Order: sequence, then structure tokens, then C-alpha cells
Amino acid sequence: MSALSELYENIRCCEKCEIARSRIKSVPGEGAEDAEIMFIGEAPGFYEDRQGRPFVGSAGKFLDELLASINLSREQVYIANVIKCRPPANRDPLPQEILNCRPWLDKQIEIIRPKAIVTLGRYSMAMFFPQKTIGKIHGTAENRDGILYVAMYHPAAALHQGNLKEVIKADFLKLPGYISGNSKSTPTKEEKKESDTIAKQLNMFEV
Ligand code: URA
Repeated sequence: MSALSELYENIRCCEKCEIARSRIKSVPGEGAEDAEIMFIGEAPGFYEDRQGRPFVGSAGKFLDELLASINLSREQVYIANVIKCRPPANRDPLPQEILNCRPWLDKQIEIIRPKAIVTLGRYSMAMFFPQKTIGKIHGTAENRDGILYVAMYHPAAALHQGNLKEVIKADFLKLPGYISGNSKSTPTKEEKKESDTIAKQLNMFEV
């Protein structure tokens, strides 16, 4: 059994949180064990809970489109969530649930050793960029101990807010450059100005 399959078995049996009782299936994550990019979303929703797979609803469909825009399929990347069980009625994850689930995510990162971790949405971003605001740092990359961390808007938020859709599409297009090491990890002055203007217009510092 591979390290990931063993981990999935353990996640499937996890009962650390109350929400384990209301889940249909836990959603450990999926993708290539040797993936260069790992995407980390928030929590399973209605469809994910039924299928036991991450990002299979409308946000997932959009994520697939974003991946296709950089010539990637979901089989080539790794997709996980901050928490592995669906919070009832899709409420926000609780701090204790995030804490309880953290070791699973840490183990996934340890096994996959991605070149880049892309956070999708505020809970995932808060884990890796505490104190930062998405309106300021989305689409930029920060290198820490050999891993590039990139914060992005959540695809579901982007779907519901017209202008964010273009922002996340543009942010995705930067990923291949980051991965191949050809792009600067910090935005140019012009890029920064443009993204600050969009964020101000949208009044969207927290998504
Ligand atoms: N939203 C997430 O953050 N994760 C999923 O798996 C599905 C929707």
C-alpha cells in the first residue's frame, strides 16, 4: 500500500470531530503522488461529501477549466482541503476542526513534496499566510524552504463575483512561470497597482 493510500484509510476512519458523524464520506484529497502543484481548498461541500472526492461541484468544474488553461488535468496535480469532512449546511470550518485536521494535511504535503502550494480561499490562505489579505497577495508567490506558496481566490467566490473570475484566470496563468522558475515571485509595481485597484473596486479583501 502506498503512503498516500494508507493515509486515506486513516482519514476515512477519523472521528476526531463531531462532523465525522454527519458526513457521508470523508474527502481525503486526490491526485498524483508526484504532483508539482498542490491546491488546497476549504472543505468538502454537498457533492464532495457524496462522492468522497474534492472539488466535484460547480467550483470544481471551474477549477478544471483553470487547470486546462495551463495545460494541466486534475490527474497531474494534487487537490486537498483544509478539512476533510463536510461541515453541516456548508458552514465555515471551526478552529478546532482545522486544528484536528491539520496533521492530515501536513502528512499529505510531506508525502507529495510539491514545488508549489496554491491556497484557494481564506481558510487555506490563513494557514500559510496568517495576517495577509487576499486582495493584496493573490497571484504572488513566496518561496519558503524550497516550496512556492501562492494564494488565490476561491473558485466558488470567483464564480459568484464576475470580476474575480478574470482575476483568478490571470493568476492561474502565472503558475507555469513560477514552477519553471522563470517568473519573479514578487509582482511588478504595475501588477501590484492593478491588483490593488481591482481589490478596492470590489471591496474584496476577504473571500
Ligand atoms: N470547495 C472547497 O473548498 N473544497 C471542495 O472540495 C469543494 C468546494
